Amino acid sequence: SHTRKRLVMGNWKMHGSLAANAALLEGLVAGATRAGDAQLAVCVPFPYLAQARDALAGTPVSWGAQDVSVHAQGAYTGEVAPAMLADFGCAWTLCGHSERRAMHGESSALVAAKAASALAAGLTPVVCVGETLDDRDAGQVECVIGDQLDPVLALGTQALARMVIAYEPVWAIGTGRTATPEQAQAVHAFIRASLTRSGAGQTRILYGGSVKPANAASLFAQPDIDGALVGGASLVADEFLDIAAAAA
Ligand code: G3P
Repeated sequence: SHTRKRLVMGNWKMHGSLAANAALLEGLVAGATRAGDAQLAVCVPFPYLAQARDALAGTPVSWGAQDVSVHAQGAYTGEVAPAMLADFGCAWTLCGHSERRAMHGESSALVAAKAASALAAGLTPVVCVGETLDDRDAGQVECVIGDQLDPVLALGTQALARMVIAYEPVWAIGTGRTATPEQAQAVHAFIRASLTRSGAGQTRILYGGSVKPANAASLFAQPDIDGALVGGASLVADEFLDIAAAAA
């Protein structure tokens, strides 16, 4: 009944070790069939991309990065170019996670430019948007999300059709305080309308922010929620797979 292919993506953030990742990746591969028709992916820290590639080769679980440089190459110490990720076999990259917007000063214009760079290299960007609690209390949700989306929408229909949007209300990230399915759906519908006006109404929109096995099914039941971007619960194979099973 859900027409868009669901996607359940883990964002490990700055967690993990070779030993912990090996066990986690093995658990994901062992239980991947629980996702049914839904797609499974993990976004890992740069040093562990090789480990993810080796552990996930030939499995239904794909893998990606958590950030990418806006630049193609050059004197940018510490940055990782989109072509380097693509060269490596990476499928995805997050762009503009709220932690990067807040802690690394990433503007919406930069985030959109990163998405364009990722697309040009053949990666699928997952562009993250979301309001703070102050924004919500001030009744500014659509205004803030609209401003974050505008430079992304300006990339045009072709680009929009090849990316994924993730709605992550900042107040719901790592707080255990999930948006209610109705709150999330309202923003997803707003994003969907914007995408539709830009000719990309079928672009997938993920919800992120304290997604857990207990709340996943009610979120996925919403018409404009096409999957989840999962932080904390993606670090435990059984929890992540329980969420995936709710999307199956
Ligand atoms: O990118 C996913 C993330 O920001 C949500 O984190 O821990 O609330 O699931 P968490």
